[in-house]
Amino acid sequence: MTVAELTEDVVRVELPDGTLVERHALALRDGCPCAECRHPVSGQRLFESSRVLPNARIAGVAVSEEGRLVVDWADGHRSSFAAEWFDPDEERLLQPWDASLEGALPWHAWADVVAEPSARAAWLRDAARLGFSLLHGVPVEEGEVETVAALFGAVRETNYGRHFDVSVSVDARNLADTALPLSPHTDNPYREPTPTLQLLHCLVSDVDGGDTVLVDGFAVVERLRHRSPELLGLLARRPIRFAYRDESAELWTDVPVVTLDAAARPLALHLNNRSKGVPQGDPGDVAAWYEAYLALLGLVESPEQQVVFKLAPGDLVLFDNLRVLHGRTGFASTGARRLQGCYADRDGLLSTLAVLERG
Ligand code: OGA
Ligand code: ZN
Ligand code: ZN
Repeated sequence: MTVAELTEDVVRVELPDGTLVERHALALRDGCPCAECRHPVSGQRLFESSRVLPNARIAGVAVSEEGRLVVDWADGHRSSFAAEWFDPDEERLLQPWDASLEGALPWHAWADVVAEPSARAAWLRDAARLGFSLLHGVPVEEGEVETVAALFGAVRETNYGRHFDVSVSVDARNLADTALPLSPHTDNPYREPTPTLQLLHCLVSDVDGGDTVLVDGFAVVERLRHRSPELLGLLARRPIRFAYRDESAELWTDVPVVTLDAAARPLALHLNNRSKGVPQGDPGDVAAWYEAYLALLGLVESPEQQVVFKLAPGDLVLFDNLRVLHGRTGFASTGARRLQGCYADRDGLLSTLAVLERG
């Protein structure tokens, strides 16, 4: 860091790479990293912003010999900031993909992932980057899917239990338990908050078809934006009712099909033909919404966006349920096919990955 200039309440510095950044006095005082202000291990703030900030006035700024920004405050407190403090938000490590990924699917070996921290990190890094990651060689045992989730976090229990079965049943109430195809979707959009991760473990696959289909929903959002920012905006603005009911549950929530962040980057998709309600209100607005929705579905169903592969017994797919849409092709109802699934959450996965990657 070289220049340190103070204009009113704004400090301007030049970072080692030449970038000029400006920070307001309030953000600097609030972000003071000294041991009096922040817990050295957890980084938790040790003072109340509401008490300290109203009186925060800068008395002077300088750059130390070690290249740190030193701020002296009117009340005598001194803050010292390393250049890293000014780093903009860490780049998201998301890597968009389409059908061309099919030749390079992120397969990992269960035995290695269990035995070696570096292999576990590689498996989780693929899930963070691509939104999904695959295992082969998982023991073909009841409930094993929960043991795999426990390698990085906590199982998210729902009204379907800690884990659930997907298998053909005669009196299926859920399309999933028939031999029909399932169009690419996110699970449980009617749940608030929606589970951010899902695991599906194949126990039996003795049918023709029943292939797994995955689509990078964020890549699809970018394609829709490229085609028409207006259509994307319609999907992002209008909440849609998603609902599910059975003998013991009534679940519903109102959420847009696409959630964008403040910079209009995709944060989440809620897309499920089975549980989607219909938009209410002005027919003209509804027609415009359907144009956008059908354009999105057209992209989701396009072979160019889909990777298709078959899970064999012992295979397990872990995916980000707000980013990656999953579905399956249809199959003959004779023969057996059985998957077990469970939900989990992304924060636990990212935490486990970050701890594995320390040092
Ligand atoms: C589901 C589902 C996948 C499959 O039940 O929601 O996505 O391969 N099943 O059967
Ligand atoms: Zn301090
Ligand atoms: Zn599903």
